[in-house]
Amino acid sequence: MATRVRRVGIVTSGGDSPGFNPFVRAVVRMALYHGWEPWGIQRGYEGLIAGDIVPLNSRSVSGVIGLGGTLLGSSRSEAFMAPRGLRDALRNLNEAGIDALTIIGGDGTMRGARALQDAGMPSVGAPGTIENDVCGTDVAIGVDTALNTALDAMDRIRDTASSQEQVFIIEMMGAKSGYLALMAGIAGGAEMVCLPEEPFTLDDVTREVADAYIRGKKHCIITVAEGARPNAREIADHLHAHEVETGFGARLSILGHIQRGGSPSAYDRFLATRLGAAAVERLLDGESGVMVGTIENEVVATPLSEVAECTRHVQEADLDLARVLAR
Ligand code: F6P
Repeated sequence: MATRVRRVGIVTSGGDSPGFNPFVRAVVRMALYHGWEPWGIQRGYEGLIAGDIVPLNSRSVSGVIGLGGTLLGSSRSEAFMAPRGLRDALRNLNEAGIDALTIIGGDGTMRGARALQDAGMPSVGAPGTIENDVCGTDVAIGVDTALNTALDAMDRIRDTASSQEQVFIIEMMGAKSGYLALMAGIAGGAEMVCLPEEPFTLDDVTREVADAYIRGKKHCIITVAEGARPNAREIADHLHAHEVETGFGARLSILGHIQRGGSPSAYDRFLATRLGAAAVERLLDGESGVMVGTIENEVVATPLSEVAECTRHVQEADLDLARVLAR
């Protein structure tokens, strides 16, 4: 089928998530299948500004399907959102003869994709973030792996917490979104979850922990999102000071960037591969200015203008579930 696109650029941007590499692989191989040239932009939007644009071939993506991180490199770029950054990026893309872009990343990255589209560079986004706060998809690439990593840590922590009758405050990533802390809380059997979306006080936490002890629990696990206020450290200090009252010794564990790395799960490899292929197919159909995602297991495309203005929030029903099942 005839198409205007001949050179497609691939950008991996922002906080990486497990699945960026299978996404790049799918775009490269789907582009080659359709007779296009895939080019990689190194270091995300910073690399666009600097003109770090390299040709890719099928062998460039050999063996990367199971690797975490991104072979192209990534960055968070404030300079890119300034008029000069965008202008330099467009100049570099034109000089390299790039006709269209596929771009994977989180909400900030989708805003950048929208800016590129509006400035005349046909762009298709794909959601890649462990926080699952991007609209236009049920789940973003990397969420499943990050959750499994968090669950593995929780299970290990529970072993030692039960042996010593301790309350563990486990901080999960999520500066703005409590998704990981909530879902890990449900799937990992936490006694309490603390999220940025739900107000709570240190006294609420003490009461919950003391009540868990009275109910005969041998451990008490609290998952706390990074963005929760009071934060995980404040909660841990408070519970440490109230150990006699609650019955549990208090310990803090911050999982941090461990959740961002690691080999993508089967689910994330499939999702990244489907969305990488779909991004190329949309461009082939002459469509751009959209983000591809999956809703109810169907690949869908949502305008970048909608995605850029929207934040996906945790569901109240999931919060209720976490509370009920913690008893
Ligand atoms: O990708 C989102 C996120 O993991 C947030 O939860 C976290 O606050 C942030 O990235 C940390 O990112 P970085 O270390 O790349 O600045």
